[in-house]
Amino acid sequence: MRGRSLLPLLRLRVRLGVNIDHVATVRQARGEKFPDPVQVAQTAVQGGADGITAHLREDRRHIQESDLEELKKHLRVPLNMEMSIDPSIVAIAQKLVPAWTCLVPEKRKELTTEGGLDVQHESDKIGRVVKILKSRGIKVSLFVDPDFQAVKIAKELNADAVELHTGEFARLFRVKDKGVETELERIRSAAETAGRLNLLANAGHGIDYDNVSRLIQVYPFHELNIGFSIVARSLFVGFNQAVKEMKAKLG
Ligand code: PXP
Repeated sequence: MRGRSLLPLLRLRVRLGVNIDHVATVRQARGEKFPDPVQVAQTAVQGGADGITAHLREDRRHIQESDLEELKKHLRVPLNMEMSIDPSIVAIAQKLVPAWTCLVPEKRKELTTEGGLDVQHESDKIGRVVKILKSRGIKVSLFVDPDFQAVKIAKELNADAVELHTGEFARLFRVKDKGVETELERIRSAAETAGRLNLLANAGHGIDYDNVSRLIQVYPFHELNIGFSIVARSLFVGFNQAVKEMKAKLG
């Protein structure tokens, strides 16, 4: 049938969300006004970014509230505010109204987000925040480990999406550990569960130019959120080109 033969063409490309936290890390290192994350975000969009992610951490180590306000004002792609469920941060999200929020656990001493949300033990608190954000028309994604139960709870909490933690996949891939296949199977199975439950399946953490192709073989993710590898690559080729190169990997 004619319609059927068109199906492969209708397969959507994976969206690329570019995390710009570490542009602000460089700025904060010297307490300067540059490099400006908003300007870099605009360059990322020119390079093909489908969305921009910024994490307003409680300790404000990189992104500041004013960055989010400027991003909201100037971006023509969806802004994804990565955030903890601390009431002070939730209040900022309620005021800002980004298109998306991604709820993550946050520890003061960690270098970067270390694990997925503990949706099992913190379901009441997380559920309350999901409700607050959604009542403002903000879409909510929950950053969870690639685990069937966590995805199921995300659905029960009325999230719109899950972002599956790919940090362990990235680590195993880097050291060429055979366990990477088992981890990919966990990711695939969790993403499929999300799809079946009508949740968007995103992925993020540790994704780079070497491992991204293998990752997207296992599932047609809605969006990948990638930060560090793009910022690092941009030191050699510029931000626009670094985003273009990652985008090209997404097919
Ligand atoms: N997704 C989430 C939820 C994160 O916490 C981070 C790190 O800030 C990323 C994606 C991006 O990870 P990376 O910087 O390793 O690409």
